[in-house]
Amino acid sequence: MPTDRYQHFPATRMRRLRRTEWARRLVAENVLTPSDLIWPLFITDGKNKREPISAMPGVERISVDLVVRAAEEACQLGIPVIAVFPFTDPSRKTDDGREALNPDNLVCRATRAVREAKLDIGIMCDVALDPYTSHGHDGLLRDGVILNDESVEALVAQALTQVDAGCDIIAPSDMMDGRIGAIRNALEKNGRKDTLIMAYAAKYASAFYGPFREAVGSATALQGDKRTYQMNISNANEALREVALDIAEGADMVMVKPGLPYLDIVRRVKDKFAVPTFAYQVSGEYSMIMASAERGWIDADKAILESLTSFKRAGADGVLTYFAPRAAKLISALR
Ligand code: PBG
Repeated sequence: MPTDRYQHFPATRMRRLRRTEWARRLVAENVLTPSDLIWPLFITDGKNKREPISAMPGVERISVDLVVRAAEEACQLGIPVIAVFPFTDPSRKTDDGREALNPDNLVCRATRAVREAKLDIGIMCDVALDPYTSHGHDGLLRDGVILNDESVEALVAQALTQVDAGCDIIAPSDMMDGRIGAIRNALEKNGRKDTLIMAYAAKYASAFYGPFREAVGSATALQGDKRTYQMNISNANEALREVALDIAEGADMVMVKPGLPYLDIVRRVKDKFAVPTFAYQVSGEYSMIMASAERGWIDADKAILESLTSFKRAGADGVLTYFAPRAAKLISALR
């Protein structure tokens, strides 16, 4: 018996299985489907209104009625979840971000409208105060410090407001300590035992969120940066601790964010915890692909499918991506 169980060239020729399209498909280890996609949408006031976002070519802020249209499109394309983010009018922003608790804020109105359309689709709402605070931070700010426990109280109230509007998946993106447990407790106490939580568990203080902050209008507002609550980009073991805590506190699903620069984290989280794990291909990742495609430097369609497939290869169960409808169409065209 040979000691190595693999044969050598020429008995083994790796290219045999790459020679034809059907063989490549047959042995593909990972397959991207529309069911893997979550589509983030930006909402704005008005009716039948679309506003371009200059840093995200091809993405628009849309009014609530168009969010319903988008949800219908998502359904048709087989995309299981939409995620909604508000562009809050600056006149509604305050130090404490209390618009987050307004049951008639944009997110709640959009959630109710999609719910009323009775579509077979999940609605995910972000929990964090940044679209609502005059300082642009995800929590409450006092004397230059983001308060943890006081912020968690506000976030719990925000989450309950969103669930009352019909939200299926609460997605805390704020990175305060203990917020998953506090939200889970409040949900149980309020008879919301079936509400899902997708924790932005390992969320890094990243430069790749830039275009998003234009999209929700928090860029000009933001004072300083978010490094006292979002993770240090240098750390990986710390991500595992964050994920362990969020699972223990009651998260059903965890997320790593941003996406491509953090594929190592996706892999380690999936290997260690074997829970539903998601990656967020964030705004800056979207815009990099779009910008280079606009210059004719890369083929956008191929780059989109390649980047999304890489998340699956790294172990992700799904991806939040602004490319969701485009990718879903590309996938169906390939079939
Ligand atoms: C808000 C939030 C951010 C993103 C999702 N939720 C921005 C931030 O933390 O500053 C980024 C998404 C993206 O860049 O696409 N807490």
